[in-house]
Amino acid sequence: MNAANDPATPPELFTWEFATDPYPAYAWLREHAPVHRTRLPSGVEAWLVTRYADARQALADQRLSKNPAHHDEPAHARGKTGIPGERKAELMTHLLNIDPPDHTRLRRLVSKAFTPRRVAEFAPRVQELTDRLIDGFATKGEADLIHEFAFPLPIYAICDMLGVPAEDQDDFRDWAGQMIRHGGGPRGGVARAVKRMRAYLVELIHRKRSDPGDDLISGLIRASDHGEHLTENEAAAMAFILLFAGFETTVNLIGNGTYALLREPAERARLQASLAAGETGLLATGVEELLRYDGPVELATWRYATEPLTLGGQRIERGDPVLVVLAAADRDPARFAEPDVLDLGRRDNQHLGYGHGIHYCLGAPLARLEGQTALATLLTRLPDLRLAADPAELRWRGGLIMRGLRTLPVAFTPEK
Ligand code: HEM
Repeated sequence: MNAANDPATPPELFTWEFATDPYPAYAWLREHAPVHRTRLPSGVEAWLVTRYADARQALADQRLSKNPAHHDEPAHARGKTGIPGERKAELMTHLLNIDPPDHTRLRRLVSKAFTPRRVAEFAPRVQELTDRLIDGFATKGEADLIHEFAFPLPIYAICDMLGVPAEDQDDFRDWAGQMIRHGGGPRGGVARAVKRMRAYLVELIHRKRSDPGDDLISGLIRASDHGEHLTENEAAAMAFILLFAGFETTVNLIGNGTYALLREPAERARLQASLAAGETGLLATGVEELLRYDGPVELATWRYATEPLTLGGQRIERGDPVLVVLAAADRDPARFAEPDVLDLGRRDNQHLGYGHGIHYCLGAPLARLEGQTALATLLTRLPDLRLAADPAELRWRGGLIMRGLRTLPVAFTPEK
């Protein structure tokens, strides 16, 4: 019997096969052990929550704190949230690590600066960046879409939005590259990159205080000057989390999304026909479906029980870490019809790819803009885009929180 179907044998998690395709293992967990205690590769024990209803409930449950101080593990195991530099105290006070009332105050402040209107005004700039990056490889007939496209686009976009001058953005590209490669590289490199990025952000915040512009950092400073206080550490941590939360996620949306479309030719042809007809409806529902089907955030960031509670019939003790598996919840047949089928026109699609509750993704409008622009432009400019590698040979990053490809080799008829 296939281990994935054997009710007596829990599947092996966090192996190479699992990283390539975790969905059969998640199906097993959803069915046989929906709230499952496991030992993570780091050695920390945590609960995995895989059913949609339980996941949604856990994401909104205020008894599950985001503050790592509530973790019951020895100090050395703390802070393993998947965010490089997390243990650096100066960058700790960001949205994904704090609870109300601090979270409410900081989220209100950043929401004043990071408005849907600001994102909408940014659309022409995202289009320009997208075209410039595609120009870089369109005449070659082949590319690695991760390195040449999905990786730089969100970095330049968020740098622009924050107000990082163009001449400094390649530094960010390097630092981000060092942070994202940390799975295989020396940890020292990550720490150095985080340190440099922080020093730069503190400097930039100083500069924007005396010489504000029409950018997000100046907006944050302005918002904090009107009554509510934002400390320098909080401002640096905020800029850092905007960069960090908005970067690898969007890389993976473009990477996983393109990969799914290349593997589902009928859905991809349907999207191309709709784009050629000048429609945007299928693009919008399509990007949501790609988030549900193989989203960038496999597990939501860490939560810790502040008191004993019961979830999905399972008792969880105070101090226990709880990991909500968004990728499993979004394939739950109890919530989605034919969950393993990619249907770009899916209507009833309240997926958890952006989370749920008070920590719901602040950058969702920007992510949607970038995802839609990137996929539409790619499929329109390079209409016969195809995978130039055996899917079985593609390598996925082994991190805990994110799900994404290391490389995505493609071929296409070169642009003249
Ligand atoms: C939070 C997903 C892009 C900024 C979250 C959460 C998820 C998520 C699942 C909640 C995590 C949790 O509850 O543990 C995504 C996905 C993206 C994306 C799938 C791309 C496709 C962005 C972008 C930005 C951003 C572009 C900003 C520029 C944030 C911030 C939070 C957050 C600041 C924390 C909000 C809070 O704690 O109040 N995101 N994100 N994200 N995201 Fe995103």
